[in-house]
Amino acid sequence: MVKLLDSIGLKSVNFGYIKGKKIIKNIDIDINIKDITCIIGPNGSGKTTLGKLMMGILRPDSGEIYLVGEDIAEMSLGQIGRKIGYLFQNPEKQFFSNTVEDEIKFIPEIKGLDKKYIEEKTALLLDLFQLNHIKNSFPLKLSQGEKQRLALAAILVNEPGYLILDEPTKGLDVERRKVLVQVLKKLHGEGIGMTVITHDYAFIDQISDRILKMHEGEIVEDKRNER
Ligand SMILES: Nc1ncnc2c1ncn2[C@@H]1O[C@H](COP(=O)(O)OP(=O)(O)OP(=O)(O)O)[C@@H](O)[C@H]1O
Ligand SMILES: [Mg+2]
Repeated sequence: MVKLLDSIGLKSVNFGYIKGKKIIKNIDIDINIKDITCIIGPNGSGKTTLGKLMMGILRPDSGEIYLVGEDIAEMSLGQIGRKIGYLFQNPEKQFFSNTVEDEIKFIPEIKGLDKKYIEEKTALLLDLFQLNHIKNSFPLKLSQGEKQRLALAAILVNEPGYLILDEPTKGLDVERRKVLVQVLKKLHGEGIGMTVITHDYAFIDQISDRILKMHEGEIVEDKRNER
């Protein structure tokens, strides 16, 4: 297979959680890392599973996955995580701090980044995602929409080059959804591509370059969206 340097490539990827029950069926696809690619499809069609395979959280039973030319089978989750920011469908799975503010600062502090830089960046993200008024709250006690925004802020503070977002608009009201579209468009303008798993058609229409539709573990439709 050609290892394209501008894509995430899946070659004959198969996966099942249980032996004998395939959830991802022989998927072959190249996803351009500059695009905003939306993955749609009914509940249980395998969207989240595909995202986790691309992120290396799950490993394929057979087939290969390349991240800008590198075989992810040879990469640790940490190495992949330095290149891709991943938003879980249930964002509370990624919280481990006692306050909203600390949740955003956690990884940059571990990395030993400059204190002033962390303070400024955190303030910016608290503001951008309208989290200032709850910056001292306990992350697990937030509303669904607040959790979603916090999880995104905690991902973006690491300045990932690519994003995989599993239902990022879930739990967001119309206003906050608009803000998120603006934020993602701005990131895209800065050269950050993303794969967005979503059921939100208005969102897809506004933001996607390409739409992949899944059904029972296969990609059954692949089209460009002329924005
Ligand atoms: N940890 C797991 N163990 C066993 N089966 C699982 C597991 N996670 C998901 N599945 C099954 O795999 C299939 C695909 O699930 P997946 O979560 O990828 O679907 P999805 O397209 O993301 O659905 P939704 O739109 O509801 O989020 C489903 O039949 C689901 O029951
Ligand atoms: Mg899902």
